[in-house]
Amino acid sequence: MSDYIASSLAQYNELYKRSVDSPEAFWGSFAREEFVWRTSWDNVLSYDLHKPHIEWFTGGKLNITENCIDRHLAEKAHETAILFEPNNPDEEHLAISYKELSEHVNRTANMLKSIGVNKGDRVCIYMPMIPELAYAVLACARIGAIHSVVFAGFSAQSLADRINDASCAFVLTADGGYRGSKITALKDIVDEALQKCDCVTRVVVNRRTGSKIAMHDGLDVWWHEAIEGQSTVCAPEVMDAEDVLFILYTSGSTGKPKGMVHTCGGYMVYANYTFRSVFQYQPGDVYWCTADIGWITGHSYIVYGPLSAGATTLMFEGIPSYPNADRFWQVVEKHSVNIFYTAPTAIRSLALCDINLVNKCDLTSLKTLGTVGEPINEEAWEWYNDHIGKNNCPIVDTWWQTETGGIMISPLSGITETIPTFATLPLPGIQPVLMDEAGNEIAELEAEGRLCIGHPWPGMARTIYGDHQRFKDTYYSSFPGKYFTGDGAKRDSNGNYRITGRVDDIVIVSGHNLGTAEIENAINQHPLVSESAVVGYPHAIKGNAICAFVNLTVPSKDAEKLTNEIMNLVATIVGPIAKPERIQVCSALPKTRSGKIMRRILRKIAAGERSDFGDISTLLNPECVADIVAQTATM
Ligand code: PRX
Repeated sequence: MSDYIASSLAQYNELYKRSVDSPEAFWGSFAREEFVWRTSWDNVLSYDLHKPHIEWFTGGKLNITENCIDRHLAEKAHETAILFEPNNPDEEHLAISYKELSEHVNRTANMLKSIGVNKGDRVCIYMPMIPELAYAVLACARIGAIHSVVFAGFSAQSLADRINDASCAFVLTADGGYRGSKITALKDIVDEALQKCDCVTRVVVNRRTGSKIAMHDGLDVWWHEAIEGQSTVCAPEVMDAEDVLFILYTSGSTGKPKGMVHTCGGYMVYANYTFRSVFQYQPGDVYWCTADIGWITGHSYIVYGPLSAGATTLMFEGIPSYPNADRFWQVVEKHSVNIFYTAPTAIRSLALCDINLVNKCDLTSLKTLGTVGEPINEEAWEWYNDHIGKNNCPIVDTWWQTETGGIMISPLSGITETIPTFATLPLPGIQPVLMDEAGNEIAELEAEGRLCIGHPWPGMARTIYGDHQRFKDTYYSSFPGKYFTGDGAKRDSNGNYRITGRVDDIVIVSGHNLGTAEIENAINQHPLVSESAVVGYPHAIKGNAICAFVNLTVPSKDAEKLTNEIMNLVATIVGPIAKPERIQVCSALPKTRSGKIMRRILRKIAAGERSDFGDISTLLNPECVADIVAQTATM
């Protein structure tokens, strides 16, 4: 165990203090001792958060795959790196050793080179949760190509937007993806997306489902053909610490998604540090994060964090409810999972199922439970603790973001206290601050405010791909000199943080970040819609659900048809995860005199409030509020 990974509360306190007193000495020593660098750095950190300009380990040279794979081969060649559990429980699982992983990644890397991928090229990966997805990600990193993984639930339009934004010349996909009893037609979706993309020169198609697909001469190539005969040796490209490792898109307050840019050195150090500290992974443990690699959680805590730590990471292709709602617990039993990391929305939906589905499975291997992606409510926390952890497993409620690269505020399993609904304490190196609306830092310990981070940490995003000004405007302008998270938080008298939710135009539905503007843009494309306002409201299982208030150009004759058309439009343009739960037609939307839609009022109406809207007399059209309430009541 490294001296930098806390193994007691006293050590956590000591490390935290050291990391704040001298961050550069702290991160510099950890990075030097725990990783393979080809060349050491000149400076641990140089930064100016006003610009913002951030560099970690400047001048250092490395390859992250050498740290995730090669360095483990001397002692762990035959230990399992990736445990692959397929969608269909009757299909055999795979235990992929570090040696096999090395061979697969190198062959994939050579395949990429053979189709013309060079260092710095952007490669879009739109694949199901199969081992080849992990190989593809690591193969890009091996040769210095920049991966942009797009979650395989996104629509053709969203995929096209992401391919174009990063001008990806290469797309890696599959003929289809299994999701429970359904097959997602990934290649068809890629074909549709590519009608809108001129930048793509090659598409590599992995055969997973055997679905009938079109292969286009000169563009599409089968994975198994392209990889045939490729060598299992591929020298890692020597990368600068600040070279881009990947781009990952997250929703923004405008319709356009933001391509968050993470770089090689700092991201590696931070993903590894947080994985080991939070989960307290011990050699031999089986660790399972149920996220998809299409999200940051999968990048940091299925691939890079665990593999850089030489861990066994379980990769699950399926969904919690297939073939039955006991699938998670069956997989825990089957593979004797020790550390289980999932989302509150999954916990809430599984808690509604017959408890015998849990009780008939042997969950005694579990030591640590985790949650991520949204606030966990107390009932769900207690259920998880009682029924899955049997009151015997610490629950790490991990708060972080695509932008932060790794976990920021969380208990350390078995080391620091857990408190239901609290993400609790910052990790060493993380300096949270609460700000009031006037922009002042709140000095009192017990307080509520906007959550900012006052000092750089290695895993932080460096920019938005192609739009540094937007990066500055979004994260570094509201509270100059600090990173603004977009979340609100409360702090108790012991310094524990409780995240209260987004304070901007992003709604978290089932743990997925959705920009309200992106959904409105989709709805507004319906010929009958003149304008729309999308808000989130509390939902028992999803955490939040989407309610769309729409104003029509002419009244609709068939409300059900209109609702279906709008739903389909959102599913096609943004993706099925963004479909509104409710669509409320209204005669007008409440507006300020400057024409801004008053979402605050609509949020209250969607949440069931019928009268207490504060002072609405300054609105341009205060009378419409009563109308909307009346129309909503009849829903
Ligand atoms: O609002 C916070 C919420 O998810 C947002 C980040 O979403 P995304 O970039 O998609 O990353 C999700 C996985 C890291 C945050 O701004 N969030 C994430 N974790 C928690 C959370 N809210 C409360 N508690 C958490 N543990």
